[in-house]
Amino acid sequence: MDAEARHLALSLSLLFVLFRLSFSDDASDAATLLKFKDSVADPSGSLDGWTQNSGPCREPKWAGIICNGDGEVYGLQLENMGLSGPLNLGPLTDLPSIRTLSFSNNRFTGPMPGVRDFKGLKNVYLSANNFTGGIRDDAFDGMRSLKKVVLSRNKFSGRIPSSLVLVNSLSELWVDYNGFDGQIPNFQQSDLQVVNVSNNNLEGSIPPRLSAMDPSMFAGGEAK
Ligand SMILES: *[C@@H]1O[C@H](CO)[C@@H](O)[C@H](O)[C@H]1NC(C)=O
Ligand SMILES: *[C@@H]1O[C@H](CO)[C@@H](O)[C@H](O)[C@H]1NC(C)=O
Repeated sequence: MDAEARHLALSLSLLFVLFRLSFSDDASDAATLLKFKDSVADPSGSLDGWTQNSGPCREPKWAGIICNGDGEVYGLQLENMGLSGPLNLGPLTDLPSIRTLSFSNNRFTGPMPGVRDFKGLKNVYLSANNFTGGIRDDAFDGMRSLKKVVLSRNKFSGRIPSSLVLVNSLSELWVDYNGFDGQIPNFQQSDLQVVNVSNNNLEGSIPPRLSAMDPSMFAGGEAK
């Protein structure tokens, strides 16, 4: 081959590789999401449009999937879909671009799903389900991008996990209407705007960093 032919062959194969890469992104995101779909109970068929021969970010996009400008899955917004059973987020950690997860207003049961393996996660919404039991103290260890954690209106109990104190990026924490007990952890993060712990069984004193916040966030408990 002369230089020009070699150059052409190289350009063509590069083009081919690029095409394969962008296509296989969508295909591997699809495979990951289908694995997740198999793991949840979906009695009203809300996820029926998630099928093998379509793609989450190709038109028509899959229900409840948010995509970024590069056609990668940025978020799941599976709200009000009648989904039930335990929630296992394990399969979704294969989605590298995931930043937001919302499962509010469903009928999920069982323990708090693990979220700390989502290193880039910014928002997690689990409110208004039937999650139960304690949350591991280290549940939020090492999360550096997390801004908003919404666990309102479930049946969580035990202590508010202390690993939240070390999440520097945290701006909103909602745990209202659960069965948390013990003391409010000593939050000190400067970006905190909301720490709503109302309607739990908390006691002790309100940490100084939170004392200027709206009193309704501490109502319905013994903490003062
Ligand atoms: C939670 O469970 C209770 C009783 O087990 C039930 O009455 C309620 O509807 C459930 N709530 C949700 C959101 O599934
Ligand atoms: C805190 O949550 C309670 C219960 O959901 C609500 O009534 C109250 O308005 C909230 N406070 C703030 C400041 O968001």
